[in-house]
Amino acid sequence: LKESIKLGIFGLGTVGKGVVEQLRKNGALISQRLGKELQITKAVTANPTKDRGIDLSDIQISSDPKDILDDPEIDIVLELIGGVTDAKSIVLEALQKGKSVVTANKALLAECTEEIFNMAYQSKGLFGFEASVAGCIPVIREIKSSYSGEKIEEISGIINGTANYILTSMIEDKADFQVALKAAQDKGYAEADPAFDIEGTDTAHKLIILMDLAFNGLFDLKELYVEGITKITPLDIEIAEQFGYTIKLLGKAVNTDKGFEGRVHPTLVKTSNMLASVRGAFNAVAIKGNFMGPTLSYGAGAGAYPTASAVMGDVIEISRNLLQEAGQLVPPLASMRDQLSKKKILPMSEVTTEYYLRFSVLDEVGVMSKITTLLGENDIGIRSMLQKGEAHSPKDPIHVVIFTHKAIEKNILKALAKIDSLQFVAEPTNLIRIDTE
Ligand SMILES: NC(=O)c1ccc[n+]([C@@H]2O[C@H](COP(=O)([O-])OP(=O)(O)OC[C@H]3O[C@@H](n4cnc5c(N)ncnc54)[C@H](OP(=O)(O)O)[C@@H]3O)[C@@H](O)[C@H]2O)c1
Repeated sequence: LKESIKLGIFGLGTVGKGVVEQLRKNGALISQRLGKELQITKAVTANPTKDRGIDLSDIQISSDPKDILDDPEIDIVLELIGGVTDAKSIVLEALQKGKSVVTANKALLAECTEEIFNMAYQSKGLFGFEASVAGCIPVIREIKSSYSGEKIEEISGIINGTANYILTSMIEDKADFQVALKAAQDKGYAEADPAFDIEGTDTAHKLIILMDLAFNGLFDLKELYVEGITKITPLDIEIAEQFGYTIKLLGKAVNTDKGFEGRVHPTLVKTSNMLASVRGAFNAVAIKGNFMGPTLSYGAGAGAYPTASAVMGDVIEISRNLLQEAGQLVPPLASMRDQLSKKKILPMSEVTTEYYLRFSVLDEVGVMSKITTLLGENDIGIRSMLQKGEAHSPKDPIHVVIFTHKAIEKNILKALAKIDSLQFVAEPTNLIRIDTE
């Protein structure tokens, strides 16, 4: 029987170093729980001689992937380098060789879903990816294990801490988007190139993983509707507040009678909804099942230690299975491989929800009636309406905000195309979807 479980770690950056530190600090506790010792014997990084400010003297560090992949002593490979190209070959080769793999790489799993999971299903090794979605919140384990008797009806997630931090600053400090983004960068939340966070891409990667798990499917990232937070203005936030809403970047998946909705966009969430109180860089995932009803899980969605903790949870679970020679008790994507089929996401044009529409128009006679007529002609009912601002000259636009009843997106887009081409419209209309929960 094995005396210890040996780990080979790719990447000693934010997360990789966090994993080393956690094992140094909690190693004794972990051994008590596991009954054996966990050891990181080798690491592979791009710059192996870099000073990382922690004691790594007992770890053999190199830049050659073979040092880990060809070492028969290594039981579990940790892929913590990020990106898609090198990470993919590392994960595939390790699994192919029958090693177990733990990764935090949501981009890889969302962009190469079939390749990675086909290998994970075939491999004798086990596969853990809890850290890829919502950091230390065990949402993947919830869906794979605790909720495996549920028909999951809906998932709503605040799963990008940077975007949530920016929106929180815009709400609480009345900062405009650029100022809030700068603050997020200064705090180390946003990357120098924050595109993945603010354009919704990172949220989309995570949502696809959750949809695959929740709906027994292989979904195509390219079918997901993705819109970031760059168009949100302080004015939208102020008006939303006035009507009892806050604005969040939500990843939303709904199992409807028409098919699966999957979408990432800024959303007006009622202030009474628990998701509205998720502030700063925190994450939360709300899941509704047909027997359990609604649940909400909350915690740190990123950062060295919370992410390391999710990696470590997977490492320990896999180690327990390896020590029992139990094999893969829970399938990598929750359902049996032969039941896992390619599934379509409904086109965004078929989604039905409520809308916030902010029109920027010249203050002329007949403007309101023209807008409301065009909405009516497209089956869009008005729930409430507000005029904001005063025109000091005939060229100054004013804002007219309309909250609609539920309407189908294609009708909204048809009406807006017509309205935005009218002469009195000063700027394209700002559309924000409303969460009807
Ligand atoms: N940071 C977070 O809070 C967080 C949260 C959730 C998930 N994740 C995911 O965790 C993964 C790692 O993120 P991170 O923030 O730790 O990244 P990071 O700080 O940039 O660290 C990346 C590490 O990988 C090494 N590396 C890069 N390319 C390599 C290659 N081709 N071969 C070998 N080593 C290579 C780097 O080596 P050198 O140091 O030697 O240059 C560095 O040690 C990503 O998939 C990320 O999406 C991160």
